[in-house]
Amino acid sequence: MQCVKIRENVYWVGAVDEKVRMFHGYQTPYGTSYNAFLVLDEKITLIDTVKAPFTQTFWDTIAQVVPPEKIDIVITNHVEPDHSGALPYVAQQCPNAEIYISPNGEKGVKAYYASLQDRPMHVVSTGDTLCTGAYTFEFLLMPMVHWPDSMATYLREEKILFSNDAFGQHIAGKERFDDELSYDNLLERVSDYYANIILPFGKQVQKVLASVAGLEIEIICPSHGVLLRSFIPEILERYAAWSKGTFCENKAVIVYDSMWGSTEEMAQRLEQELQAQGKDTVIFSLSQQHHSQVMGDILEANYICVGSSTLNRTMLPTVAAFLCYLKGLNPQNRIGMAFGAYGWSGESVAQVEDVLSGMGYELLPAQKVKWKL
Ligand code: FEO
Repeated sequence: MQCVKIRENVYWVGAVDEKVRMFHGYQTPYGTSYNAFLVLDEKITLIDTVKAPFTQTFWDTIAQVVPPEKIDIVITNHVEPDHSGALPYVAQQCPNAEIYISPNGEKGVKAYYASLQDRPMHVVSTGDTLCTGAYTFEFLLMPMVHWPDSMATYLREEKILFSNDAFGQHIAGKERFDDELSYDNLLERVSDYYANIILPFGKQVQKVLASVAGLEIEIICPSHGVLLRSFIPEILERYAAWSKGTFCENKAVIVYDSMWGSTEEMAQRLEQELQAQGKDTVIFSLSQQHHSQVMGDILEANYICVGSSTLNRTMLPTVAAFLCYLKGLNPQNRIGMAFGAYGWSGESVAQVEDVLSGMGYELLPAQKVKWKL
């Protein structure tokens, strides 16, 4: 990979993963990047690493800027292996490099990587700073955005926030900055990422946004996708809205799977009815689309209508997977509705309703059809 100069002394040295198509249940049709950064000062600082299989290309990219063995400091913002995978190698190649990490981060990397168990680390907390010469790094813990160890690092003199997973997007490709994409494309990728990764943690996101509001920020460097420099206010505004559960009160998502077309016909009829009521609708067939592709639309919809035929006295496996995923991400304060066709026993509709009501949703009357409409 080619390194990218972000500022005179700040470089992107990450890796681009064109091939990855799944992140723990989240389908990533556009691949992703694992962003890492190098900051040159009296001391050389590396911020985050990459997924383990990309270690060599990452090391070669760093070498375009400095001899990698000269790294003095490694800031580890997050333990998850897509960012810490190359940390054991870096630690081995730079035995004197000092590692800065959150309290939960230290526990995580030592539990995960045997080679790091005896490595001394600087455990930092919110407000702690690190001076590397002309530069000051300030640490900001972000517990549960989206792991207990998650942390951001602010480079004060350059007004850059290294936000790790927050504000990320799963996009591979040549673009490194937000203004190299159309705003609509950027927003779609940011919202999809938020819906599939950050959604359960609205309250924690609000705390992060409150802390970030006190910082002058010219660039946000997330650990996936493009860096934000032109659309920072817009993306912060969307994060604020999503974290508060603000959604469009006129949007309905219809998601279904169908055995022989009857439930599909019900879904299409339901879409027509909702449109006739003036609602914006989006419809997903789970036999054609992965359950994670639905979430970006659910983020801003207040109606969630779920349809399933009955198979062997239960809902279809694709619908069960969708509901399991939805329950985990836990969007709140929605209005739910179940529908489905059946031949003789017809349990699926009540089972879907049970899940939706268990999530605290107000329910619209279910629609259940024997054989065909
Ligand atoms: Fe991109 Fe939580 O790892």
